[in-house]
Amino acid sequence: MQKSDRLQWYKNKTVLVTGGTSGIGLEMVRQLAGLGTKVVFCGRDPQAIESVSRATGADGLCVDLSRHEELPRFLTALRAKYRIDILVNNAGLGDITDFCQADTQTLLSMQSVNMDAVVVLCRELLPEISRQPGGGILNVGSVASFFPTPGSAVYGATKHFIAGFTDALHGELAGKGVHVTGIYPGKTSSRFLVRATRGKNADWDKAMAADVVARAALSGLACNRIRVIPGLSNKVIVLIAKFLPTQILLRVTGVRTKSPSGQGGAS
Ligand SMILES: NC(=O)c1ccc[n+]([C@@H]2O[C@H](COP(=O)([O-])OP(=O)(O)OC[C@H]3O[C@@H](n4cnc5c(N)ncnc54)[C@H](OP(=O)(O)O)[C@@H]3O)[C@@H](O)[C@H]2O)c1
Repeated sequence: MQKSDRLQWYKNKTVLVTGGTSGIGLEMVRQLAGLGTKVVFCGRDPQAIESVSRATGADGLCVDLSRHEELPRFLTALRAKYRIDILVNNAGLGDITDFCQADTQTLLSMQSVNMDAVVVLCRELLPEISRQPGGGILNVGSVASFFPTPGSAVYGATKHFIAGFTDALHGELAGKGVHVTGIYPGKTSSRFLVRATRGKNADWDKAMAADVVARAALSGLACNRIRVIPGLSNKVIVLIAKFLPTQILLRVTGVRTKSPSGQGGAS
C-alpha cells in the first residue's frame, strides 16, 4: 500500500497532538490538517498556538504539561468540545547536562512532560479512544530509548520508559481495534537541541527533517506497527545497541554524548 493511502486511516477522525507548536509535532499537525483530519494540538505559547492555528486550520489549546495541576482543566476543556479518536504524545524536552550538574527542578519538569503527562493522557482519554475500532495512540520516544545516555541520563531514562510503556500498551490493546505505536527518532531538526543545551547548540549535524519523521510516525500508527525507527542509520544504531554489552555501549555513547564541541547528546 502507498504511504499516502495508509494516511487515509486518519480521515473522519479527531486527533490530539501534544507539542504541536514546533518541530515534529508541528509537522504532524500540518500533515494531518492537510488530509482534512480534525486536529487539536497544544503547547504553552499562546502566540505560537495562534499562528499554527491560523496556518493549518487546526484548533489549539494552551497547557503546560509539566504542571500536574493543569491536566484536569486541560482535559475538561478538551472534552467539552471534542471526542478524541487518536492521541499523539509528542511534547517532550531534553536536558543535555551531566547529572551531577543538572538542576533538580528541570529534571522533574522533564519527567512530568516526557512521562507523567503521557500516562495521564493515555489513561484519561483511552475510554474515548477505544469506544469504537479505529482509535490510536502514538508515543514519541527516541533512539535514546534503546541505550544508556551518559550526559543526559534522565532524558534517556524517560525515553526508555516510553518504549516499555508503549510496547506493553500495544499488547494490552491488541485485538481491541486500538492501534498503539512508538516512534523512535534520532537527531531531528527542531528546537529540541537549542533548548536542551540552553542555546549553546543550534541544531544537530546530519539531522533528519521533522516532516520526514512526522510522516513515518503517522504512517506507522496507521499500520499499527509497534515500533517505528525512521532512517537507515538510526535503525543500524538501534540494532547495534541491542547486541552490544552495556559496558561497551557506555563507552560508545559516552564518547558520542560528550564530544568536545558539546554537540553530542542523546536525541
Ligand atoms: N529533535 C530531536 O533530535 C529528537 C530526537 C528524538 C526524539 N525527539 C522527541 O521528539 C519530540 C518532539 O520534539 P521536537 O524535536 O519536535 O522538539 P521541539 O521543536 O522543541 O518541540 C517540542 C514541543 O513540545 C512542546 N512542549 C515542551 N514542553 C512542554 C510543556 N511543558 N507543556 C506543553 N508542551 C510542551 C513544545 O511547546 P512549547 O513551545 O510550548 O514549549 C513544542 O511544541 C519530543 O518528545 C522529543 O523528545 C526529538
